[in-house]
Amino acid sequence: MKINVTINGQEYQRDIDDKILLQDFLFNEMGLKSVAKNCEEGCCGACTVNFNGWPVNSCLVFAMEADGGSVVTIEGMANNIQAITLKDAFKRNNASVCEKCMPGFIISLLSFLSGHSYFDEKEVYHALKGNMCDKADYKLVVKSVMEFAKKL
Ligand code: FES
Ligand code: FES
Repeated sequence: MKINVTINGQEYQRDIDDKILLQDFLFNEMGLKSVAKNCEEGCCGACTVNFNGWPVNSCLVFAMEADGGSVVTIEGMANNIQAITLKDAFKRNNASVCEKCMPGFIISLLSFLSGHSYFDEKEVYHALKGNMCDKADYKLVVKSVMEFAKKL
């Protein structure tokens, strides 16, 4: 089927297989290598993209569902000052979020932050419930987010 989809602010028309997942479409056909494939079960969040304003596991969505919609990946946030600042805060605090998980963390957290003016640490943990990785130090991730929030 043909789909029209806006990806990182640019419109595309593509002929796709009905069964292709959004993650495979973005990674293989659109060359967006930040959209990692890991658990493929909706558990880890490594494949998280912003879809129509919400963080979504792209391994759980068919690409055809993106028809008429808008997808933002971390590549589309290259000049986003909030994404850059949050990433810097992770690094400064040694939060151990590597490049595989980083895009999903940033996309989930920026979505959470855009909807919350005031929040506590517990709510940040909750916002990350879809981004599960045993290599990341969640205590330091949350510390980074709280630090980042003070600068907003
Ligand atoms: S690869 Fe999609 S949630 Fe893990
Ligand atoms: S695989 Fe590196 S932080 Fe998840």
